Amino acid sequence: MGIYLDHNASTPVDERVAEAMLAVLRTGQGNPSSVHGPGRGARAAIEQAREQVAALVGAAPGQVVFTSGGTEANNLALHAVLADAPSGRLAVGVIEHASLLEAAEARARRGWSLDRIGVDAAGRVTPDHLAAVLRPDTRLVSVMMANNETGAVQDIAPLASLARDAGAVFHTDAVQAAGKLPVDFGASGAQLMSLSAHKLYGPKGVGALVVDRSVELVPLLYGGRQEKGLRAGTENLAGIVGFGLAAELALQALDSRHRQARRLRERLEAGLAGLPGMTVFAAAAERLPNTTQFAVAGIDGEALLMQLDRDGIAVSSGSACTSGSTEPSHVLTAMGVDEETARGAIRVSLGRDNTEADVDALLASLRRRIEWLQKASRAAGW
Ligand SMILES: Cc1ncc(COP(=O)(O)O)c(C=O)c1O
Repeated sequence: MGIYLDHNASTPVDERVAEAMLAVLRTGQGNPSSVHGPGRGARAAIEQAREQVAALVGAAPGQVVFTSGGTEANNLALHAVLADAPSGRLAVGVIEHASLLEAAEARARRGWSLDRIGVDAAGRVTPDHLAAVLRPDTRLVSVMMANNETGAVQDIAPLASLARDAGAVFHTDAVQAAGKLPVDFGASGAQLMSLSAHKLYGPKGVGALVVDRSVELVPLLYGGRQEKGLRAGTENLAGIVGFGLAAELALQALDSRHRQARRLRERLEAGLAGLPGMTVFAAAAERLPNTTQFAVAGIDGEALLMQLDRDGIAVSSGSACTSGSTEPSHVLTAMGVDEETARGAIRVSLGRDNTEADVDALLASLRRRIEWLQKASRAAGW
């Protein structure tokens, strides 16, 4: 067994969640839309999960719309608000996840004006950044609650109130924040919020868009009245049940997971500080307690990732969706990090099963592998 330090990409499914899902797969044969007993049983299981997910983010159950994950929730948020107008203006954070950015860019190709909300050097979106792009005709503003790469956490409430005062609908991608930080849908001021189960020890392929029903929304999918008409299609029953239980367990363990992650990260960053040429990104921002993104001068992130993998240690060189591509991280670039440093980025995202021994093993491996890479590049005359 190796050491898994890539929990922002995905978390293992909690054993209790897997058991609950298996039970549904074995016994839940009814269609939740059917009125007979087995159908009603399936419906009750979905409604219980809706309550559990709502509780995690302080929302009302009726505000939770289940989707196939964070990507669909982000796409639905954009589509739901904008679909009824052929053109207009939207503003999205420059550091957003690709599922939001590329959906916004697709709108821009179809005639919408797209404004990008910048960040400071620590990856924070301030009200000034938003005010600089907000216009009277901005229909939608989207700023993520926590960044998947750097872990930078945004102060959402002032941004949401600025956007709403200007007449825009405010969406936040809380995929990385939920389960790691206390999240309160109402207090955030957001009218739309995206969630994903597999970032909080639930299954992959299920998530939710939390919606303030005062916002008029247009569905992405047609063909059924499921999810109050906002997401047609027979529900992913086992996935939804798994998401519900994972959300309940995350809420129960929020404080302990937070404390444990913070303690391990402090140990990790104390060790990293001893490595020459080390930069920790977004260090001046409030960050997710489990996340550290760093670079070592002169070391390529992708090469270091491969070396760590040889020691059985799984980290990321950016977000999972962009690793493998040769482009430096758009998040780091937006923060003003130069291209060479950004290419060195390694992201470590800790999880609830990690131990001090895992952190120490990572630090030992880093020291050895960095030295090896430095020797190799000197030998090659780079
Ligand atoms: C911030 C953020 N938003 C959205 C997503 C997409 O979620 P999903 O994998 O459930 O489609 C991710 C996944 O990496 C993410 O980190």
